[in-house]
Amino acid sequence: MLEATVDRGLPKPALYREIAASLGALLEGETDALANLSNAAAHLAGALERINWCGFYLARGNELVLGPFQGKPACVRIAMGKGVCGTAAARRETLVVADVHTFPGHIACDAASRSEIVVPIVSDGRLRGVLDVDAPETDRFDLEDRRGLEAYIAALAPRIRWEAL
Ligand code: SME
Repeated sequence: MLEATVDRGLPKPALYREIAASLGALLEGETDALANLSNAAAHLAGALERINWCGFYLARGNELVLGPFQGKPACVRIAMGKGVCGTAAARRETLVVADVHTFPGHIACDAASRSEIVVPIVSDGRLRGVLDVDAPETDRFDLEDRRGLEAYIAALAPRIRWEAL
């Protein structure tokens, strides 16, 4: 087993620092993009409390296609500009949705989801996909989550060979 467990009880800034720091050890010595992204999804899902879905959608032409994730089976294709994921991808901007029922066009993959954060992944100037995390309670994600997950993606993006996916 890979030793990359994070103490889920830490205050958020320390939690996200630890998640980003342990990512290096988790991906060390492995270059396979799919394997690394899969372990990254499992690692992040294990480190975050009160979530029901955590994973990646990958940019493929003018749509996003489901990538490695933890949670219930999800919608496979999302057009750019559609739903929370497609909107964040099109704008290349993080979206924090406190109540998904109030987001026009929200795509309900897991009926349990109540709030959501989507962080676009850009590397070498190209949109590679998004990180999507859903929670079964409203208002789960705040500014600290946003900053922490953006820092996480900034640490992850250079470690993945996106062109191989
Ligand atoms: N809710 C997302 C779709 C992806 S699932 O939540 C995993 C959206 O509106 O884009």
